[in-house]
Amino acid sequence: MKKTVLVTGGCGFIGVNCIRLLLAQHPEWRVINLDKLTYAGNLQSLTEVSSHPNYTFIKGDICDAALVDRIFQEQQLDTVVHFAAESHVDRSITGPAQFIQTNIVGTFTLLEAAKNYWLDSSSCRFLHVSTDEVFGSLGPTGFFTEETPYDPRSPYSASKASSDHLVRAYFHTYGLPILITNCSNNYGPYQFPEKLIPLMLNNGLQGKPQPVYGDGGNVRDWLYVEDHCAAIVRVLEQGKPGESYNIGGHNEKTNLQVVELLCDILDAQAGPLASGQTRRSLISFVTDRLGHDRRYAIDASKIAKELGWMPQVSFEQGIARTVDWYLNNQDWMLAVTDGSYQEYYQKMYGGPA
Ligand code: NAD
Ligand code: TYD
Repeated sequence: MKKTVLVTGGCGFIGVNCIRLLLAQHPEWRVINLDKLTYAGNLQSLTEVSSHPNYTFIKGDICDAALVDRIFQEQQLDTVVHFAAESHVDRSITGPAQFIQTNIVGTFTLLEAAKNYWLDSSSCRFLHVSTDEVFGSLGPTGFFTEETPYDPRSPYSASKASSDHLVRAYFHTYGLPILITNCSNNYGPYQFPEKLIPLMLNNGLQGKPQPVYGDGGNVRDWLYVEDHCAAIVRVLEQGKPGESYNIGGHNEKTNLQVVELLCDILDAQAGPLASGQTRRSLISFVTDRLGHDRRYAIDASKIAKELGWMPQVSFEQGIARTVDWYLNNQDWMLAVTDGSYQEYYQKMYGGPA
């Protein structure tokens, strides 16, 4: 079936991977990418698909109601996959205002446009991509299910929880055909090097310190980004409107385990440091993050049982692929760290950056 899909935040880490998958897997779908190109948006990551006949890029803000309304009308959207967000917990601690604006007001703006435009919405879908962080922090045992009460504890997770509530409210109040996914920590190609894995890879390659917060015992459930994108497509195709689906990788690791593994792989693949020391010598335990959630772990049995999705990539495979990708794409990392990636839009489209 033909679809016209608005992907918001398509120049971010997961959006880039998802747009590539959508265009490859569904040649009959049109994909419109609306992205503001904040520091986290990298248009260069989509160079290979930029001239694909089914792909259109629009630079803009999801909080701009006139623009969003116009896109719904002009493009005759029937599907939204909503990734656009401020996504980094540390930034939400030092500057929460933009998280409230984009994550809450931006989601509200998209919901209003969908409600007003989709008068007959029986074949439409609004998929809101959210996080397991809305459920709070686990002790040493237990898993988040779709029934776990919300208990967000950082400005980031509180803003995402707020947007989830709005999305659900539009289903119950107006019958908008929404779907929500709550996933665990993603990793893989094209991730901005402020998040744990690409930051450690970048620092490790440059012989810089590896800052581990607190005692390094916080646990995350790592999900390879391509598995996540496959789950999103599955939810779009088969998910039941009004439902939410937890998506996880069955890969619980402490941060220290992750960092030590990355150090060892880099030693093996990139050779030792100039000093002759191993990269584990770069690990430095630093002051803990404020309000640092101890453990996240997802029970993904609902999506497995109802939609037949399971992660296909083990942590060992995913990490090997990720390290290979960063080693083979050092230009990408250099453009991100020296800031030149932000000039790409102007080069491609002219006008103000
Ligand atoms: P990201 O930070 O890499 O990318 C966000 C993208 O949104 C960027 O391209 C940015 O330019 C764009 N954007 C930001 N504000 C915008 C605005 N006002 N208007 C239009 N575009 C805007 O994020 P990501 O890691 O790709 O995450 C995507 C989504 O998945 C987010 O909603 C995030 O909360 C959720 N999520 C991510 C993870 C993860 O591990 N990365 C885990 C769970 C959930
Ligand atoms: P992050 O990638 O920021 O994702 P999130 O906070 O959404 O889980 O961090 C993952 C884990 O790694 C988290 O427990 C914080 C920790 N961490 C560090 O120990 N050092 C770092 O430099 C960063 C960025 C994160």
